[in-house]
Amino acid sequence: MSKSKKGFFASAFGKKNAPAQIKSSVFRKSDVSKMLSDKSPFGVKESYGAIRTQLNFSRKNEKCPVFAVTSMTPGDGKTVNCINIAISFAKLNKRVLIIDSDMRNPTVHKFFSLSSSNGLSELLAGFATSVNFKTTGVDNLTVLTSGDTPPNPAELLNSEQMDKLLKLVREHFDYVFIDTPPVSLVTDATVLAQKVTGYVIVVRPGHSDIRDLKHGVDSLQALGATISGFVCNDADDNVRHSRRAYYKSYYYKRYGYSYEQYAGASGAVQDTQDDN
Ligand SMILES: Nc1ncnc2c1ncn2[C@@H]1O[C@H](COP(=O)(O)OP(=O)(O)OP(=O)(O)O)[C@@H](O)[C@H]1O
Ligand SMILES: [Mg+2]
Repeated sequence: MSKSKKGFFASAFGKKNAPAQIKSSVFRKSDVSKMLSDKSPFGVKESYGAIRTQLNFSRKNEKCPVFAVTSMTPGDGKTVNCINIAISFAKLNKRVLIIDSDMRNPTVHKFFSLSSSNGLSELLAGFATSVNFKTTGVDNLTVLTSGDTPPNPAELLNSEQMDKLLKLVREHFDYVFIDTPPVSLVTDATVLAQKVTGYVIVVRPGHSDIRDLKHGVDSLQALGATISGFVCNDADDNVRHSRRAYYKSYYYKRYGYSYEQYAGASGAVQDTQDDN
């Protein structure tokens, strides 16, 4: 695809850096190397620069836009892209906050070698009286970690406490990015529809399923959400694989009880792929 045709779609990483096969988004130490830095390849920096420009156009004149970064299925690259988009804004000397709202499977804190405890869940549940912002080692970039896993993440995200938190952070930061769980499996991401400026939807060719994508976008729009744009992650790789079945069955297991009801509802498909 030519650069002009790419539009908001940007391949975040080249073929060389991509895993041969994606089995899980369980955090690996090597994931830290995928964070945007001055040493990142030119194409990667350019891609995130393009995403940043497009997001700036979709900020709806808000002083501090809040973007929820989501995708339809696990492992599409939400967290890596949420972090990298946030870093690309922080590099412009903007005060940037990442909120890890994936309270079921938090990973943002691991990229910055932080503890997840004493974060979002404790605050929303009323166990903490002040917001425990954590510095990251990246200039201008602050993180609110997920906190310990609560029994009711969607309920907490849908609470008045969450509204208060977003009001507060809008006063103290220039940009806020919320890392979320996948839309097709739990409702956590969708409850933010009326609270955020817009959704950035990560699509991973060969991994994301087009029917899930259409269904997820329709659901978000039915809730009145704004879709700020799509990030085509890892675009050059895996296009030849159709792994819908594999990833669904794998991740339902990993997310345990929380996702089981959804597995039943959408009919999780048998794993038809081999492991090689
Ligand atoms: N473009 C890419 N190139 C290489 N590896 C990538 C790319 N995007 C993501 N990955 C890797 O794929 C795995 C999943 O990424 P990530 O954790 O960001 O996905 P996720 O959508 O947040 O997953 P989950 O739904 O479980 O939260 C990680 O190991 C990450 O480093
Ligand atoms: Mg994630």
